[in-house]
Amino acid sequence: MPPQLKTLLPFLAVFICIFLVARYFLIPESFGKYGHYRANSMTETEALPTHYAGKANCVDCHDTEAAKLASDKHAGLSCEVCHGPGAQHADDPEKNKLIQSGTREFCGRCHSINPARRTEIIHQIDIKEHNPEHTNCIDCHNPHAVWELKD
Ligand code: HEC
Ligand code: HEC
Ligand code: HEC
Ligand code: HEC
Repeated sequence: MPPQLKTLLPFLAVFICIFLVARYFLIPESFGKYGHYRANSMTETEALPTHYAGKANCVDCHDTEAAKLASDKHAGLSCEVCHGPGAQHADDPEKNKLIQSGTREFCGRCHSINPARRTEIIHQIDIKEHNPEHTNCIDCHNPHAVWELKD
């Protein structure tokens, strides 16, 4: 072996030791148990709080509103897109109230004219022109059955 390489050998040995020690301390506890993956992350993710209950859950207790929704143009929407995350409400409805907004601003999020949205897919209105004397769209449109118009 050439002498200049020989002088480098101790450095190489030290480098390998540092690498092994660092590797020992840096690899997370359960890494590799099920492959190239940290096994504990599954239990950690499972323990995170749930925010959304899902439509099926809402329907269990609110069949009247659900039947109405299913009968009309809003049938494809989830309940929580309008009422917000409802997992806590589903656990304890008396304690955890949900939002019920039918204001121009709220409905306008989906319905006010936006060139990036296709009108054939989602009907849009000019929020300044469409019955501006009303502060709430639900003065006329039933949110669960939008063509069941009130006077
Ligand atoms: C497009 C938005 C929208 C969707 C989707 C929607 N809601 Fe509503 N919901 C409203 C609004 C707005 C009100 C308030 C109506 C009012 O004050 O007249 C309301 C009111 C309610 C109420 C209170 C009714 C009362 O008489 O006090 C319940 C319960 C309800 N919704 C359940 C649901 C359920 C269950 C779903 C899904 C199956 C759903 N909603 C989907 C907008 C929506
Ligand atoms: C275990 C039965 C149950 C489930 C599940 C449930 N609710 Fe309710 N909900 C109730 C009861 C009871 C009330 C009336 C609460 C009150 O008057 O204090 C209520 C009231 C409401 C209201 C009126 C506003 C309020 O918070 O009081 C809305 C809106 C609503 N629920 C929507 C939903 C949606 C959306 C879901 C699904 C994410 C859902 N609910 C799941 C029982 C339930
Ligand atoms: C999350 C998006 C979303 C929100 C919020 C929403 N809508 Fe809709 N709305 C839709 C979709 C999707 C349709 C079905 C496609 C269509 O016909 O435009 C629809 C359909 C409608 C239609 C029928 C349009 C037609 O020409 O047949 C009316 C009216 C309407 N919504 C009114 C409302 C009102 C009032 C509110 C507020 C309470 C509201 N929407 C909130 C998504 C939304
Ligand atoms: C005074 C009652 C009234 C109010 C308030 C009202 N609407 Fe309407 N809306 C109607 C009537 C009636 C129609 C059908 C005739 C028309 O297109 O003007 C309609 C039509 C629509 C359509 C269908 C347009 C299309 O191209 O097919 C949408 C979407 C809609 N409204 C959403 C809304 C939203 C969002 C609000 C709140 C910003 C709102 N409306 C407020 C009465 C009302």
